[in-house]
Amino acid sequence: MTKRVTVKTIQKIKDSGEKFSVLTAYDYSTAKYIDEAGVDIILIGDSLAMVALGYETTHYVGVEEMEIFTGAVARGAKRAMVVTDMPFMSYNVSVEDALKNTSRMIKAGASAVKIEGANEHILKVITRCVQSGIPVMGHLGFTPQLLNTIGGYNIQGKSFDTTLEILDSAKKLEAAGVFSIVLELMPEESAKFIADNLNVPVISCGAGKYCSGQVLVSDDVFGKYSEFKPKFARKYGDMKTLIFNCAKQFDEDVKNGKFPSDDEIFSLSEEELKQLRLHEGSIKC
Ligand code: KIV
Repeated sequence: MTKRVTVKTIQKIKDSGEKFSVLTAYDYSTAKYIDEAGVDIILIGDSLAMVALGYETTHYVGVEEMEIFTGAVARGAKRAMVVTDMPFMSYNVSVEDALKNTSRMIKAGASAVKIEGANEHILKVITRCVQSGIPVMGHLGFTPQLLNTIGGYNIQGKSFDTTLEILDSAKKLEAAGVFSIVLELMPEESAKFIADNLNVPVISCGAGKYCSGQVLVSDDVFGKYSEFKPKFARKYGDMKTLIFNCAKQFDEDVKNGKFPSDDEIFSLSEEELKQLRLHEGSIKC
């Protein structure tokens, strides 16, 4: 049986100075292939609102959808740790509400959840989740659920003072019990300064090469999402062209009578055909 990646595995990788990989996935087969490729953590990111559901920001996905996509990904991942992003307002109303919603993701198949921010309320939520057996990945730097407050996709931690503020939040997250922290959209020197002052693994999302882990949105990696390509994302394939070409060829084949071929149909036996012919014209519509 394949040994599952856990919070302990991730900490061990960090402590040994090695690196680990994190990719998002939203469906069963993509999760299966990502898992087989050896990626360590699969994140059902709330980026699914944008890349899978076509919304403009991450705000439009809810608990129920995240639960469904978590189930699909969890059924595909045998080795990777499955982490679900808690969607906008699913943990901000009350600690009780947050516990109810995070536990739904665990029951759907995740082994941990990701929560953005580190204000007093969020620290309480994280503490209670961890005490209840729900591991939490933190998320600092640019936090997409605060897009309207931040006012744009702005690089965070550009000055020493703001970097110190992020480090202070990261220290609070660590004390609350997170098993890792994503740093998004930061200069790599600032991210390094923060990572070097923490015990938990730090995962870069556009925060440079010094973090223990690297996370990207799989649709960017596969070349599938074309609305916007962040500077830090690397495109390893061209799924957009692949899907377009396959769909175009299928459309042409259907219209030219080239699909289906004899190998792609079911046929009646001679006897069954005789019976069918006997009744031809006898059924009134
Ligand atoms: O929603 C998401 O996919 C994320 C990662 C890119 C960190 O939060």
